[in-house]
Amino acid sequence: MDGDQCKGVTPTAMVDTSSLHTPVFLERTIELLAPAISHEGAVVIDATLGMGGHSEALLTRFPRMTLVGLDRDPDALRLAGERLKPFGDRVHLVHTVYDRIEESLSGLGISTVSGILFDLGVSSLQLDRVERGFSYSKDAPLDMRMDMTSPLTAEKILAEYSEAELRRIFYEFGEEKLSPRYARKIVQAREVEPFTRSAQLVELIIAATPAAVQRAGHPAKRVFQALRIEVNSELSVLSAAIPAAVDALEVGGRMVVLSYQSLEDRIVKRVLQARAASTAPAGLPIELPEHRPELRLLVRGAEQASESEQISNPRAKPVRLRAVERLRTTK
Ligand SMILES: C[S@@+](CC[C@H](N)C(=O)[O-])C[C@H]1O[C@@H](n2cnc3c(N)ncnc32)[C@H](O)[C@@H]1O
Repeated sequence: MDGDQCKGVTPTAMVDTSSLHTPVFLERTIELLAPAISHEGAVVIDATLGMGGHSEALLTRFPRMTLVGLDRDPDALRLAGERLKPFGDRVHLVHTVYDRIEESLSGLGISTVSGILFDLGVSSLQLDRVERGFSYSKDAPLDMRMDMTSPLTAEKILAEYSEAELRRIFYEFGEEKLSPRYARKIVQAREVEPFTRSAQLVELIIAATPAAVQRAGHPAKRVFQALRIEVNSELSVLSAAIPAAVDALEVGGRMVVLSYQSLEDRIVKRVLQARAASTAPAGLPIELPEHRPELRLLVRGAEQASESEQISNPRAKPVRLRAVERLRTTK
């Protein structure tokens, strides 16, 4: 149901959404968006609705704003839809991949928005549902789809990708130095028995990791990250989504992006910094209006959560926050 507009959806399972996910950087996100979203008629896109934690707080604090919540995971939309029901027609939920912001907005008759939030990555709900296969610490089917209606799974990748393709994704999306070794071992092992469970893959990676290799974290961490990114095309989607999001912001509109790993943050940083820079050719005596920066960076570099937030919410530890304000349109 890509692109479907769903309002007031009902949950299939009874889950207490408020206890599922402590929104990361909640107060800082509110503080950064506030100047842009307090006015009558403000529209905010939560591009990664998840359990609706950030959305609920925004709707509560800014009673004059309307929210457009996007998620590719139908389960998240159902549960957040239930949580946000008290806000009635101030909430519009759309099942879509977030690089389709423009289509989602035009489906609702909206052209530009006042605020946008991206809280990237996997939700606690997705991580906690063992059967989704995101975790290397629990045995589960090798699935890893954020959208259970999409066709590519981790099992399919491990069965069908060539050794060279596996090597590439482990290297590019997992920054895994042992990519050649793991790819070779996987291709050898699948001749004997196909990979269907995460425990099989974890076992192979542990056995293939030389004892002398010093690792930060679990040896399977990077391979699992790489598979998840490939299954969900996470980086290519993000590369398209950030420029599309900037285009959707009205002048004075603000955007906050929370990234959970350096590959995501690099993409976000590249786009935002480029559009926050003047494009005036060197040597031009005056800066023409069309060369002026389109964005203003609201934080210096990438901000990390305070020590106290990192202690109270361990999910906040790897997060890098970037925020911008739109200064002018390009049209
Ligand atoms: C970290 S959670 C968001 C949590 C949310 N801020 C909250 O307070 O509950 C990220 C959510 O984004 C969704 N997501 C990830 N990539 C997406 C994409 N490319 N398009 C749409 N949704 C995506 C995931 O399905 C997940 O539900």
